[in-house]
Amino acid sequence: EAEKADYKTRIKALLKERDAVLVAHYYTDPEIQALAEETGGCVSDSLEMARFGRDHAAKTLIVAGVKFMGETAKILSPEKTVLMPTLEATCSLDLGCPEDAFSAFCDAHPDHTVVVYANTSAAVKARADWVVTSSIALEIVEHLDSEGKQIIWGPDRHLGSYIAKQTGANMLLWQGECIVHDEFKAKALRELKARYPDAAVLVHPESPASVVEMADAVGSTSQLIRAAQTMDNDTFIVATDRGIFYKMQQAAPGKTLIEAPTGGNGATCRSCAHCPWMAMNGLKAIEAALSGSDMENHEIHVDENLRYKALIPLDRMLDFAK
Ligand code: 13P
Ligand code: SF4
Repeated sequence: EAEKADYKTRIKALLKERDAVLVAHYYTDPEIQALAEETGGCVSDSLEMARFGRDHAAKTLIVAGVKFMGETAKILSPEKTVLMPTLEATCSLDLGCPEDAFSAFCDAHPDHTVVVYANTSAAVKARADWVVTSSIALEIVEHLDSEGKQIIWGPDRHLGSYIAKQTGANMLLWQGECIVHDEFKAKALRELKARYPDAAVLVHPESPASVVEMADAVGSTSQLIRAAQTMDNDTFIVATDRGIFYKMQQAAPGKTLIEAPTGGNGATCRSCAHCPWMAMNGLKAIEAALSGSDMENHEIHVDENLRYKALIPLDRMLDFAK
């Protein structure tokens, strides 16, 4: 604890010294989220992180999350230095959607509009017509469908099939998944729900269809927090990364929050409701990033040609979301 307090003190001093601001995702550890709040940074979902980073006056952004979030920040703010606690914090959706294979998929269907989730590399975004996050994906696809567009969707197949079902849009899906959300189990959730019949079920749409079907509310991390705050229920069963409980409990004090099951019948899971890459964002790594040494492990660079191309679909989303 004393060591943690030391790190926090040094980080606060470095943030001032470097004119830097900490932008954190809800899935990072509670102490990182608390530090972001305490130091005038932000804790939010991936859409709001992008907006906050772009609009903040600081010279340096330190992004506590995963690599696509740092890249998005750099694409939107090339004049800022964008640092991450570690560049090794990736995402299974990004890993499962390499640019060459995804481009070939797009090339095979040239009459389709390409919509990619924010959880992708800058190179994949550069190939897209639209970038979306989970908080705005449904509205954007609805809009494209109303214009009669056929859609290529990548990389999350669960989010893609949820949106296709909701909108009736014609969508070709890339077969990627989030290793965290893919582990939620419908059967075990049904058993849990039977024990808490009055609980509302909150589900992030990266979860399997069988789990999404049981949801009382489906949405991005921010939307799920809002649901816990505004719905009348006293108890919520929550199917997303457990990092969200920190802000959700603050937003809904006095309510009971229960983790949705990732196993069942003794089944094991790969990541058990906590993203291994989000977990890499520790105090020590944040201090290392801000200290300015070993920059090749901390600073985000995006090739200017790619950046320019990726900015177009990203700006489209941000303009649409206004
Ligand atoms: P949102 O915060 O936009 O809901 O995204 C969830 C996510 O998977 C981030 O890794
Ligand atoms: Fe990617 Fe899932 Fe981790 Fe989010 S929680 S960064 S989607 S692996």
